[in-house]
Amino acid sequence: MCKSVCVIGGGACGLATVRAFLEEGGFEKVVGFEQRASFGGIWNYNELADQHLSIPSVDPLAMVKPIKSENGYVWPNAVYDALETNTPYPLMEFRDHSFPESTPLFPHRSVVLAYVSRYGEDLRQHYRFGTRVVDVRRGQKWTVRSRAVCEATAGGFQESDTVPDTVEEYDAVMVATGVYDLPFIPELEGLRQWHEKLPGTIFHSKTFRSPRELAHIEGNVLVIGNSASGIDICYQFARYTGRHIYKSARSASRVPGGTSELVIEMPDISHLDPHTASVFFVDGRRLDNVGCIIFATGFLRSLPFFAEVNRSEKPLITDGNRIHGLYRHCWSYEHPGLAFIAISRYVLPFHVAEIQGIWLAKILQEKIILPSDAEMASQERQLLSARGNLPSFHDLLYPDDIEYMDLLMADIKSTSGKGPLPKEWSALEIALRRNTRLLKAVCLQHFERTGQHLTLSDALSLNIIDNRQ
Ligand SMILES: Cc1cc2nc3c(=O)[nH]c(=O)nc-3n(C[C@H](O)[C@H](O)[C@H](O)COP(=O)(O)OP(=O)(O)OC[C@H]3O[C@@H](n4cnc5c(N)ncnc54)[C@H](O)[C@@H]3O)c2cc1C
Ligand SMILES: NC(=O)c1ccc[n+]([C@@H]2O[C@H](COP(=O)([O-])OP(=O)(O)OC[C@H]3O[C@@H](n4cnc5c(N)ncnc54)[C@H](OP(=O)(O)O)[C@@H]3O)[C@@H](O)[C@H]2O)c1
Repeated sequence: MCKSVCVIGGGACGLATVRAFLEEGGFEKVVGFEQRASFGGIWNYNELADQHLSIPSVDPLAMVKPIKSENGYVWPNAVYDALETNTPYPLMEFRDHSFPESTPLFPHRSVVLAYVSRYGEDLRQHYRFGTRVVDVRRGQKWTVRSRAVCEATAGGFQESDTVPDTVEEYDAVMVATGVYDLPFIPELEGLRQWHEKLPGTIFHSKTFRSPRELAHIEGNVLVIGNSASGIDICYQFARYTGRHIYKSARSASRVPGGTSELVIEMPDISHLDPHTASVFFVDGRRLDNVGCIIFATGFLRSLPFFAEVNRSEKPLITDGNRIHGLYRHCWSYEHPGLAFIAISRYVLPFHVAEIQGIWLAKILQEKIILPSDAEMASQERQLLSARGNLPSFHDLLYPDDIEYMDLLMADIKSTSGKGPLPKEWSALEIALRRNTRLLKAVCLQHFERTGQHLTLSDALSLNIIDNRQ
């Protein structure tokens, strides 16, 4: 029976996991590790941005290092100044933890940080802050090496005699380190030469902080990528500067976001020519006088602390497209006692983490019995042949996410005895989920017209939430 559990990450999903394990009970030791000094993960905005962008950025084994600032070490992340959620806040609520009633339907990032911090308040005692997990490997149990984030360890990246590492054994390791940290910048023809000839003109959405920083750019601004980051950066730039901006979209967007006539959509890119500062597109068109390119092309999956496992015959990460050997995008059937929380794109990460945490706690308490390894491997192979080894491998677009959560819920409900139960979807939540794109558009238009944010009760009174099942 599993007695000791290590949870890596003190973002929203790590917290939900720790809570699930504590509520399930039966574990002697549940320890959370967080390299930052506080909870909240990605919602901890800082104006400092990643300074060591690799161009291109295709190595999933690369390390994202913190920035040393006057106030200690800062972990740069992808959340930017004016970011508001693209999910209605009721879909980001954990069980028994509400946002304040006056919260705008799509709140500012600072409101989410405050919410997650409040949610974590009673879990603080279970966490070691300012502690980076540097290595996890399998022996008799899981051996977890952690290191203080301080000057002596160069922010947790160097062993130190004065501040030695801590090495402990755990029966299980739950990884909740987020999936939006290591930028992906594809290798495009002409990109390396462009970077050499025109340094300082290439960015990634992770380094975007505010449209103010782009306002001075002479020449055309081109954003590559048509998901949440690409759409919102274009929208913010257009609104702030009143200038045109070009967006290269190789596929239709699957997420809600703002629109503007100033955003000119272009197809996928063919190649770049730094000598003329021109970008060529697959349909033969070209854009000249390009002053800045922002790659909103997503992130690589990266698990730097599994270096040994990744060198083994059963690696978790190879090219950064997906995590290998998982059952239901969560449980590692190749490395028992190991699991990954909320790694799918397009889901409601808070809900998913809450339900996965409870599911995992019951698996480790042997209340849920998993299929055989052969069956789990066969399910993964089937998914692979259907989806291919692509970044979309773990995607769970609505309504796949609801079906996915129903599967975990069925397992959880099949167990008897005490322990936490995830919350069921209410009719309102399903309606919010189904209508998110429309709601986001209406809220943005309302704000453009009035400067006011719509709340949930405003949206309900406007009859824009289709409540039919
Ligand atoms: C720009 C942006 C906007 C988003 N907007 C929304 C939105 O509107 N609505 C929504 O629901 N979701 C949104 N998301 C998704 C977001 O990722 C999730 O909401 C959620 O916060 C993820 O939580 P997490 O705990 O999985 O990861 P994170 O918040 O990334 O937390 C992971 C934590 O693990 C820590 N960590 C990492 N490695 C180590 C280590 N080796 N040792 C110790 N600690 C470590 C990190 O410091 C971090 O605190 C957005 C994501 C991005 C990038
Ligand atoms: N709250 C908000 O408003 C907000 C704002 C920003 C981000 N976010 C969140 O942040 C997370 C990450 O979003 P993201 O937009 O940064 O990443 P993402 O969802 O992974 O999207 C990556 C985009 O880049 C494109 N792309 C990938 N490789 C490419 C290539 N080689 N050439 C051209 N295009 C390529 C993808 O196209 P394909 O789909 O065709 O692969 C996709 O459009 C999501 O959870 C999102 O919801 C939220």
